[in-house]
Amino acid sequence: MLDAGLLRERFQQRYGVYPSLIVRAPGRVNLLGEHTDYNDGFVLPVAIDRATYIAARSRDDQMVQVVSSDLNEEDSFSLDHIERSGQPWHNYVRGVVLALQVAGYSLMGADLLIASDVPRGSGLSSSAALEIAVGYAFRELNSLSISGTELALLAQGAENNFVGVQCGIMDQLIAVFGRGDHALLIDCRDLSHRVVPLPSSVAIVVCDSRLPRTLAASAYNQRRQECNTAVQLLQQWYPGIRALRDVSEDQFAAHCERLPEPVRSRARHVVRENRRTLEGAEALERGDVVAFGQLMNASHASLRDDYQVSLPDIDLLVERAQRLAGCYGSRLTGAGFGGCTVSLVEHSEVETFSRDLLQAYHDATGRTATIYVCRASDGVGRAVDDAGPQK
Ligand code: GLA
Repeated sequence: MLDAGLLRERFQQRYGVYPSLIVRAPGRVNLLGEHTDYNDGFVLPVAIDRATYIAARSRDDQMVQVVSSDLNEEDSFSLDHIERSGQPWHNYVRGVVLALQVAGYSLMGADLLIASDVPRGSGLSSSAALEIAVGYAFRELNSLSISGTELALLAQGAENNFVGVQCGIMDQLIAVFGRGDHALLIDCRDLSHRVVPLPSSVAIVVCDSRLPRTLAASAYNQRRQECNTAVQLLQQWYPGIRALRDVSEDQFAAHCERLPEPVRSRARHVVRENRRTLEGAEALERGDVVAFGQLMNASHASLRDDYQVSLPDIDLLVERAQRLAGCYGSRLTGAGFGGCTVSLVEHSEVETFSRDLLQAYHDATGRTATIYVCRASDGVGRAVDDAGPQK
């Protein structure tokens, strides 16, 4: 975990004063409900104990100075004129600040120092963590009354419209509303959520395949398009539906033969994944990890065969994990085409599980994966120990 005290000192060294606050926003791993958020469906993510931290202090002019402590890079821009930058990380900050202004909030300039231990480019939502940390820091510095849901929507809007990535709402919502030791069942239509307890006997083991995610963005947009096509076609029989979320498995079965491939398979994944996610939340609520693990395994098979966002090396990680002792379930997590798998593993077996999985992956692919054993953590807030010397 990053040390907020160290961040405060670094801020002081860079800006000559101490920050007035330190904000923390977590990355996430999704346990169930993949590619359902942009279909108005259900997701079951967990905020993890890896996060982006921002030390911040208001300025009395219109400038925003940003230092990325990890990248050793800086950015600065004026609130009066926010443009896109050629540096991707700049745009997450600029985009959220602009979104706040466009929503009508008036802001003071600020000095920011950012540090993160969410792995970048691995599918653990380092970008949503950054967006939410920036939004929250400006909210606090300017005493704005912005609800958590509005913050998530503004951050998603910045990513869609300013950064140019067509993500859904899951990552931003979990970065805001995550809860320690719990997953969150989110309804991505009305954006309501319910906390779901995680069994204390299992660990969340994330395995980063370290595969380059080159195809991820184009395939993601294509899948979204295929889902829209499915809705348009299904409206012939069900004129009332607005999204795949509105289609039950029986309704789908009654007409799926009339849908062309690959649209039929894509829709089948979404319709079933929504049901699995609701069932999964109920399984966790009654403490049934075995049933939950089976739903995770079924989710992976569906992502592999119907949604086709897995890769052979990811399948290998998942299949090996599912066979190891102490593992209840394992699946690809996030958008796919590389990135991470998530497994639920009995605490006492985590060490052996991790070692054997890494070894099997290395033997088969020659590649070295990385394991993160994660705890469910709280969503965005002030870092616990940000009450140090403030001048
Ligand atoms: C990415 C997006 C999310 C969601 C997942 C797939 O992480 O940012 O909104 O669509 O892919 O479940």
